[in-house]
Amino acid sequence: MALNIILLGPPGAGKGTQSSLLVDRHGMRQLSTGDMLRAAVKAGTPVGLRAKAVMEAGQLVSDEIVSDLIDAELAAMGPDTGAIFDGYPRTEAQAVALDALLAKHGRSLDHVIELAVDEDALVERITGRFTCASCGAGYHDVFKQPVTPGVCDKCGGTEFKRRPDDNEQTVRTRMAEYRAKTAPILPYYEARGLVSRVDGMGAIDTVTGQIAAILDRK
Ligand code: AP5
Repeated sequence: MALNIILLGPPGAGKGTQSSLLVDRHGMRQLSTGDMLRAAVKAGTPVGLRAKAVMEAGQLVSDEIVSDLIDAELAAMGPDTGAIFDGYPRTEAQAVALDALLAKHGRSLDHVIELAVDEDALVERITGRFTCASCGAGYHDVFKQPVTPGVCDKCGGTEFKRRPDDNEQTVRTRMAEYRAKTAPILPYYEARGLVSRVDGMGAIDTVTGQIAAILDRK
């Protein structure tokens, strides 16, 4: 059976970094609502037009919009491909919606992995983040530079970009949104024995190893 896992943690906890490593190593599919929304903003779709200002302010887009995006992705996936939910669910309403969507698509949740982090360190992580403009590979000014400076390790691209919401003021709003609306959904999953905590302050490879050990349990 394909695994279905949620990576939960505040902005900069490493959800995207760990998701892409799981994609590479376990052939799973990353379902990042943040990436989907940024693609919609870039394409100027009706969803993107509604989401743009909300995202730039660091607030949450409506539950209905993001759940519809996840529904469409699950519908397009083969049943044998595992799913990593990255940045979804973020509210109790989304957690309830995800249960319904998983049932609709013949899936069930295996793990909720919480990346536990020190919030003060996250501002440095986020403000130093950049990605390859061609393939989206993620880097950091200090923690993860390309092997050859200025050249993407994955695709050889030489153009990089930074997110408009990766400034300190917006990051603080995103963290407040996480504390107020997302962290409170943990008990919903704890009651079902699904939550594992990983120390997200370790080195990237150490965190990956801890996640792999959790996935090996099932
Ligand atoms: P989204 O794109 O999901 O952003 P986020 O949750 O704020 O998370 P980030 O992408 O900032 O962080 P991450 O945990 O993925 O960290 P990363 O691996 O990149 O959402 C953006 C916006 O979209 C939201 O604010 C909201 O408006 C909207 N949205 C999205 N989903 C929504 C939903 N479900 N409902 C409503 N609205 C929604 O790591 C950060 C940096 O640190 C990188 O440079 C990385 O190289 C580095 N790093 C990672 N791990 C380590 C480590 N262990 N040690 C050192 N450096 C590390």
